[in-house]
Amino acid sequence: MNGSRSGKEARSSALRRYAELRREINRHDHRYYVLDDPEIPDAEYDRLFAELVRLEREHGLAHPASPSRRVGGRPLTAFREVRHAVPMLSLANAFGEDELWDFDRRMREELAMDAVRYAAELKLDGVAISLLYRNGILERALTRGDGRTGEDVTQNALTIGSVLPRLPGLGVPPALEARGEVYLAHADFERLNRERREAGEKPFVNPRNAAAGSLRQLDPAVVRQRPLRFTVYGAGLLEGLEPQLHSELLERLRAWGLPVSSESRTVEGVDGCLEYFHWAERRRDRLGYDVDGVVFKIDRLDWQRRLGYVARAPRWAIACKFPPQEEVTRVLGIDIQVGRTGVLTPVARLQPVFVGGVTVTNATLHNLREIERRDVRAGDTVTVRRAGEVIPEVVQVRTGCRPPDSRPYRFPRQCPTCGTAVEADRGGTFIRCPNRRGCPAQLQGRLLHFASRHAMDIGGCGPALVAKLVEKRRVESVVDLYALRPEDLEDLEGMAQVSAKNLLQAIEASRSASLPRLLFALGIPGVGTDKARRLAEFFGSLEALREALPETLFFVEGIGYELACSIRRYFEAPDRRELLLDLRRAGVGPPDKRIAPANRPRPLRQFFDRLLVLRAAFGAELKPLTVGGTQEPPLRGIGKERARLCERLIVKRCGGLCEFLRLTVEDRRTVLRGGETDSEEADREGLAKEEANRILALFDDAHYRTVLDQLHALGFSWGAVDGEAPASPAAGKIFALTGTLPNLTRSQARERILAAGGHVAGSVSSRTDYLVVGKDPGSKRDKARKMGVTELDETGLQRLLHR
Ligand code: IVH
Repeated sequence: MNGSRSGKEARSSALRRYAELRREINRHDHRYYVLDDPEIPDAEYDRLFAELVRLEREHGLAHPASPSRRVGGRPLTAFREVRHAVPMLSLANAFGEDELWDFDRRMREELAMDAVRYAAELKLDGVAISLLYRNGILERALTRGDGRTGEDVTQNALTIGSVLPRLPGLGVPPALEARGEVYLAHADFERLNRERREAGEKPFVNPRNAAAGSLRQLDPAVVRQRPLRFTVYGAGLLEGLEPQLHSELLERLRAWGLPVSSESRTVEGVDGCLEYFHWAERRRDRLGYDVDGVVFKIDRLDWQRRLGYVARAPRWAIACKFPPQEEVTRVLGIDIQVGRTGVLTPVARLQPVFVGGVTVTNATLHNLREIERRDVRAGDTVTVRRAGEVIPEVVQVRTGCRPPDSRPYRFPRQCPTCGTAVEADRGGTFIRCPNRRGCPAQLQGRLLHFASRHAMDIGGCGPALVAKLVEKRRVESVVDLYALRPEDLEDLEGMAQVSAKNLLQAIEASRSASLPRLLFALGIPGVGTDKARRLAEFFGSLEALREALPETLFFVEGIGYELACSIRRYFEAPDRRELLLDLRRAGVGPPDKRIAPANRPRPLRQFFDRLLVLRAAFGAELKPLTVGGTQEPPLRGIGKERARLCERLIVKRCGGLCEFLRLTVEDRRTVLRGGETDSEEADREGLAKEEANRILALFDDAHYRTVLDQLHALGFSWGAVDGEAPASPAAGKIFALTGTLPNLTRSQARERILAAGGHVAGSVSSRTDYLVVGKDPGSKRDKARKMGVTELDETGLQRLLHR
């Protein structure tokens, strides 16, 4: 009796907890994916999610609103076809201003109004999707299909962060069909294609095709790897609510928890439409995703109903397209560019074509593999794409238009600049000129990068000058810039006395560049501005970094093992060591001293966690270890739970790792086995003999001892520390971001703030502590000013975070 009662109690308490977890996780998903304003750290979220999954498994639960629906999903053999409750229509286009005037005139005449207000929106270039929510729970997701019937892609849609299984807002109507666009951001598209190229797979032509292809993938596990985004722009079926305006509907959708674009506005008449069109056109390159135009919709829904539909498009809406980001042109020839790392990049020389707002004359063909796969030839008719800040590329060849006498392109076997025999790299994808020291093209690339704005910032040191300096052999290494005299410059064509003086001044000023700048300027493969800053902060000096073993580098946040090895390889090359010494002698970079390390206590858990990640990298990638790395993965055979025990034993008995390492090997063994050292009380828990031996071997290994010495010399010590890191002044503070920051992307800024324990809110409110302001700030700044919120620029933010 008792047993069954307590069984029932356990079940009902599990059910209560299950409901609580579903709500909580859904709420956190909404904050994270829709509001861009997370409330809890990822680790905390992971714990909640693991608890939910465990409850489902143990009690056989599966609620339709459970966030776990997002991770399950078996591969399908085909999608189910479903008829749309309300057909999904397309939009009529206005070509040019006149057609927009015509549209507005028609609207005014038919409505018998003097002026009409429009809802103005971006026209996202992805694929349409319809999400049917019943009582706030996602019932199904359909593609547009032919407009009448679509395909059921519910499992795939659920892999998208902002598609929530349950809408978290209040007052969600009993039936709501949210309609919007699924798309990929430029950066995610680039990454996806890079990975596909490296894996020998066919890259996608553009983000729209990638999004469409992903949404129609039969295996949800594959879709999950594609960082799809979703933005809602309207509703199909809507029961139990009658909003008056489209703009009001969008507000409601937002309040119910759906992701609505923050770029939408309402405008008056054609003048307002044109103003919005031009504003959006200017913003287009900075959005980070493809938009192919803007859409104007009559804002009053009763007027929309009155106007109705023609054929397959509403009469109350019109799309105005931007100039296309893809155009067709001809390949005049194929050139090879040699970059600063020696990689040969094939570039198509094109019949000039106006695309994505500029005239394009060159487009990248990426690498040998790509040019072979697409079989791009001189004389071919091709599609060229230029979107946002991305380098123009040839995305398709129209083989049907190929001249009969065309021949496949033959990749050169010698470097076109220095004649050295080229070498294949990374499975034959990249072709490289190995003549690092003598190839003029590589030297030019290195000089240009060294002098560039985010590196040493030497104004006036552009491509034309660099080409001349190299050609006339006035410089043979970046360090030679510091030995240039006025007479070395003045006889160069196009170099006036004044510009020579300015250039020398700029070179002089660059001697005192900061360590992050210098590190970036060196052009270490894989080290951009962000990684350079992290390395500089971690090591404090070039000397400490130069000596660092890969495992030491691996302790820097954001540096994976492969990059760690590549950094090590960079510093091991004798010519680079020589260059660093020469730069030092020339007084370039911060003073030649090791900065006294700050005391950087860390919880012991971090140390073991990092080693466990390192071991996983060995296991997963099975890469032979490179330069300076050990042959043995650390902690072989030690599970996470045993590592935790090991941490507890060390902290409890010794206080920290330093103290533990000061013990004799025998005393260390006693600590790990849980036996007595000098304390009276014996712990009952301890590691098994074999486990203890493995951990002792790790600390006895000369390689890992060097890693530990290097980390200690940088001030790191691992022991009992409360919390993750010393409290930063940013901890607990609420930040908002507006405008474009000079160096950090928005997500990087956000990541840093979160790492320092701060919160990032999507909007400014009375609770906001700081508004981080970049170029072209939005309305948040006006609001912040009214509310007296402290403003920070990027430097201010960095200072606060690193104080
Ligand atoms: S409204 C009945 N609004 O454009 C109204 N569509 O050419 C139909 N699209 O299939 C859609 N952004 O996928 C609307 N802000 C926006 C849009 C948008 C992109 C797509 C949509 C549709 C296509 C029509």
